[in-house]
Amino acid sequence: NKKGFIFDLDGVIVDTAKYHYLAWRDLANELGFEFTIEQNEMFKGVSRKRCMEILLDIGGIKATQEQFDNWMVEKNEDYLKYIEKMDESEILPDVNRVLDFLKKHNMSIALGSASKNAQPILEKVGLLSYFDTIVDGNNVTKAKPDPEVFLLAAEQLGVKPNNCVVFEDAVAGIKAANSAAMISIGIGDKNVLSEATYNFNDFTEMNVDFLERLITN
Ligand code: BG6
Ligand code: MG
Repeated sequence: NKKGFIFDLDGVIVDTAKYHYLAWRDLANELGFEFTIEQNEMFKGVSRKRCMEILLDIGGIKATQEQFDNWMVEKNEDYLKYIEKMDESEILPDVNRVLDFLKKHNMSIALGSASKNAQPILEKVGLLSYFDTIVDGNNVTKAKPDPEVFLLAAEQLGVKPNNCVVFEDAVAGIKAANSAAMISIGIGDKNVLSEATYNFNDFTEMNVDFLERLITN
């Protein structure tokens, strides 16, 4: 049975969640309110448009369609400045080890991200060549927790959903993987990601025994 391994990007492969946070905070401050790191938890895994809606809710701001669109562009331009200088030093610990293990065993690997900036980020950190396919915010219409992004990734890999494993740092992403009938692996706080099939704080905790079981079972 062919297996597929689907990685989320932000917060799993690279710690870009902090840059998303800074860019949303810059916008909130400009609009005259605070945006905390706790509130940022709701933004993880969620599409840019949905984040904009939540931010305006937090600030109690009613926007015209034009303002809404302009502010989204502004946030992204700000975010792009933060990620401009990214390089391989920002790959999260042991991501390379896990990707190398999967490659060595000829596993199919996909990216399943909500971000429209996924491809340039993978290029900047030098990981693009690991991925057999990339499904991101440019290819999907329904945001996580909808399973669309992962189902499309499985289809493009030619692997049945129940033979796929998803690595995720967001509650919305774990929910998406679970509704796609995939094995979900939470990377981060297990109290937050309690719905995941398995939990790890980060990839350094994932030993070879566990990886071997994943590729054989
Ligand atoms: C997800 C992030 O990966 O991508 C979200 O967790 C972000 O916080 C979403 O909003 C969309 O990203 P982008 O880069 O298209 O604005
Ligand atoms: Mg994420």
